[in-house]
Amino acid sequence: MLPTTLIFGILSLVLSAVSVLAAPGACSVIRRDDGTYFRFSTGHRIEIATSRSLSGPWTIQGSAIPGGSKINLPGRDDLWAPDIIKSGSLYYLYYSVSTFGSQSSAIGVATSPSMDAGTWTDHGATGVSSKAGSAYNAIDANLVEVPGEGWKMTFGSFWRNLYQVPMQNPPLKNSGSSYQVAYNASGAHAIEGPTVYLREGYYYLFFSSGSCCGLDQNRPKQGEEYRIMVCRSRSATGGYVDRTGRSCLSGGGTTVLASNGNTYAPGGQGVFADPASGGTILYYHYIDKRIGYADGDKRFGWNVLSWSGGWPTA
Ligand SMILES: *[C@@H]1O[C@H](CO)[C@@H](O)[C@H](O)[C@H]1NC(C)=O
Repeated sequence: MLPTTLIFGILSLVLSAVSVLAAPGACSVIRRDDGTYFRFSTGHRIEIATSRSLSGPWTIQGSAIPGGSKINLPGRDDLWAPDIIKSGSLYYLYYSVSTFGSQSSAIGVATSPSMDAGTWTDHGATGVSSKAGSAYNAIDANLVEVPGEGWKMTFGSFWRNLYQVPMQNPPLKNSGSSYQVAYNASGAHAIEGPTVYLREGYYYLFFSSGSCCGLDQNRPKQGEEYRIMVCRSRSATGGYVDRTGRSCLSGGGTTVLASNGNTYAPGGQGVFADPASGGTILYYHYIDKRIGYADGDKRFGWNVLSWSGGWPTA
């Protein structure tokens, strides 16, 4: 997912005029036990916004890593694609250090007991990184805890698409080599931004496929713009197939949410079980055709997923 900029609706415009353009691209949402939703967004050294409701209004709290990442790579001041998880009494925030279109990338991690601005400790590199010539681009991390197996980080985009690597416990460093979990050999290999979600014995691998950004300048052929797709497997570590049984290592993928009505190019998604509604929430960014196609026009959206037949639809 790329460092785009989002605007999050009239209320947040009114309430936080200073940070109107500051809630961008890929984001990650979690609900704290006291009922506060935290949303971490690409840009502004990972912007923190909070709300009492997924529908907002969102209040900008500040940056998670205001000093920039300890990782000494270009992009250390412009962090992307946050992913938030809780383990024990700590929250873990993963982020990407990279620059647009470059494979010179690394995934970092920070921890906090509360998630509030000013409480984050940056631990720097997780050990998952890439450079020119690597099979993948080390961005877009997502952590999942696999019962009996421990932590897995799924990550990546473009090049040879999605990879996964085992992580130590606590999940601050990788603990083994990576392996591919999804690949689309055709076109631009435009798969990125994985989210692995365990439900009723299946691991669901959500990802974004297609063209994410600059859609005001460079509009792709209809159907080639960003969309959210899914594969599933009984194992977290591989064997992902789509609804028709096609392997997701050879182009498989079932669409969960694509352009419809005034919604265009939804992607950069995350998924979580919301204790408040009891539902599984799919959240994402999208373009509202009535507002504009520029990266700065993107909106934050969410739906409750339905799971008829064991496959999610938005
Ligand atoms: C694979 O790429 C082709 C060409 O861009 C695209 O039409 C197709 O939807 C992609 N499939 C997935 C699962 O990304």
